[in-house]
Amino acid sequence: MRSAMLALLLPLILTAGSDVSTGSAMEKKPNFVLMMVDDLGIGDIGCYGNDTIRTPNIDRLASEGVKLTQHIAAAPLCSPSRVAFMTGRYAIRSGMASTGRVQVLLFLGGSGGLPASETTFAKRLQQQGYSTGLIGKWHLGVNCESRGDHCHHPNQHGFSYFYGLPFTLFNDCVPGEGKDVLVDLQQTLQHLTLLFGVGLLTMAFVRVSGLLEVRLWFLVLLFFLGLAAAAVWYVPFALLQTWNCIIMRNQEVIEQPMTVETLPQRLLGEAQGFIKRNADRPFLLFFSLAHIHTPLFKSPAFTGKSRHGRYGDNLEEVDWMIGKLRETVDSLGLANNTLMYFTSDHGGHLEDSDPHIGQKGGWNGIYKGGKAMGGWEGGIRVPGIFHWPGRLAAGRVVEEPTSLMDLYPTLKYLAGDKQPDREIDGYNLMPLLEGKAAQSEHEFMFHYCGVYLNAVRWHPPGSDSVFKVHFFTPNFSPPGAGGCYDTKVCLCHGDHVTHHNPPLLFDLFHDPSESRPLTPDTEPRYAEVLERTAKAVMRHQSTLPQKVTSADGASQASADVHGVQNQMTWEKILWRPWLQPCCGTFPFCGCKENEAIYESKAA
Ligand SMILES: *[C@@H]1O[C@H](CO)[C@@H](O)[C@H](O)[C@H]1NC(C)=O
Ligand SMILES: *[C@@H]1O[C@H](CO)[C@@H](O)[C@H](O)[C@H]1NC(C)=O
Repeated sequence: MRSAMLALLLPLILTAGSDVSTGSAMEKKPNFVLMMVDDLGIGDIGCYGNDTIRTPNIDRLASEGVKLTQHIAAAPLCSPSRVAFMTGRYAIRSGMASTGRVQVLLFLGGSGGLPASETTFAKRLQQQGYSTGLIGKWHLGVNCESRGDHCHHPNQHGFSYFYGLPFTLFNDCVPGEGKDVLVDLQQTLQHLTLLFGVGLLTMAFVRVSGLLEVRLWFLVLLFFLGLAAAAVWYVPFALLQTWNCIIMRNQEVIEQPMTVETLPQRLLGEAQGFIKRNADRPFLLFFSLAHIHTPLFKSPAFTGKSRHGRYGDNLEEVDWMIGKLRETVDSLGLANNTLMYFTSDHGGHLEDSDPHIGQKGGWNGIYKGGKAMGGWEGGIRVPGIFHWPGRLAAGRVVEEPTSLMDLYPTLKYLAGDKQPDREIDGYNLMPLLEGKAAQSEHEFMFHYCGVYLNAVRWHPPGSDSVFKVHFFTPNFSPPGAGGCYDTKVCLCHGDHVTHHNPPLLFDLFHDPSESRPLTPDTEPRYAEVLERTAKAVMRHQSTLPQKVTSADGASQASADVHGVQNQMTWEKILWRPWLQPCCGTFPFCGCKENEAIYESKAA
């Protein structure tokens, strides 16, 4: 009774307390359109300094809104970065940070994913009466124990509508575009099977020739064991396109394997349809693009139009899609009450290159490193644009450190959600975006590579300096290269990194490319920086359920880290037939989305 009264009174109290211009925004909760591109580098966008790729629509969002120049992803890879984005917490808190080689989910038929115990911003907004939708990439798991339990599915995590890729776009989705999933593991398995075959033949020969007494049943058993092992291992790799590259609408698989060519129009159509269907109530749309991850799309309208090959064509298509979405918001008269946000999950992928066409991934501008490098700026500094004509002044540029994890508390705040929460690592961005605060609340920021603390950023209050302390850096391969070309992504543990004691120190304000390490002679605050950041690390670690252990990935690969169940162990990652989403009768999965249906839905 009392709470019902309060709910009735609250809007009145809020409106009365605010001035006329914000009063209209208060009456109706704002809508949110969050747009995230996959693997996009900060140097690829016009308003971040690119002068040869045309991104007029994105640039216009920035010039009419607020542009963040130090917007930082919580991790340099999809799964952990996206989890941190949606939960407002470092991925290590949810068990989505890896201890070893595998740092993202590799199979839809694995059991790892976003744990049910986590809360996303979508769930919070749903509880505030929002209509919530995710269109596009998820990549945070599907099932736990059986096909169809959908324990990790977007519908369980606050998105009442889902259309898109429960996994991600990757090279294996298009035959002939190269391989993505653990090429070295596949090769090892091939060699093992070969060895096994040779061994079996030898045994058969030994038995036939009578040199040694080998029982027949033993040989037959061995043969079938070998066959079963080969099937269990090979089938998932051979059928990756069918197993991983699928489209779901809510919990139904509607296309398997997916047709990549028509994906851009379908995702855009679905996103526009969602906005139109929800124009009359507060909504959250997370538009999580499949672009510009490889394989790059070949959309006829954009092919050959840019000055940067297929990568540039894809980026110009992204810009066109953003423009279309914005048109939809404008045409429905929602612009003044809709916050549009544009970002990327992490930096461009430097090692995704081909001897014939050169680099296929993005460009991280002046910043060192890229995707999978948690310490170097190129892996984590991404575009960040907020557009909200009814509330945010045009043309503001915020240079303070901000995080993708800030979206969670910002959306909560704007939706009027005052419920207590768990340990959150982000801060409400509105004071910075509105120009009411000059200083970011992120005095310190922690940069993870898997579960390992890679670097710490310190922005001392009242100073321009942004110090970054690196505890370890990835070993580039071949040596002297600008990335880890031998493993295709950099790894965070063991021989793959070099530890620094004392740590490497840079001041990003004077040296954004992290090329001139500071020393006690060149930096008067050197000792202070090391001391302050060490204390900040201790404070940060005391908020984790358990202290950080050694950086020896191999020995703790299956252990739980920080008191939460690790979702990135081999046991959780590897493919299991009974978890594989499938349309039809497993293992004969296959279906095509009825295009007539999607067109009428999108219209
Ligand atoms: C623009 O982006 C392209 C493609 O990523 C890149 O090759 C080029 O160097 C960038 N230009 C600038 C000025 O950053
Ligand atoms: C949107 O907000 C801006 C700034 O407050 C105002 O100038 C404009 O008239 C508003 N547009 C509509 C359609 O309400």
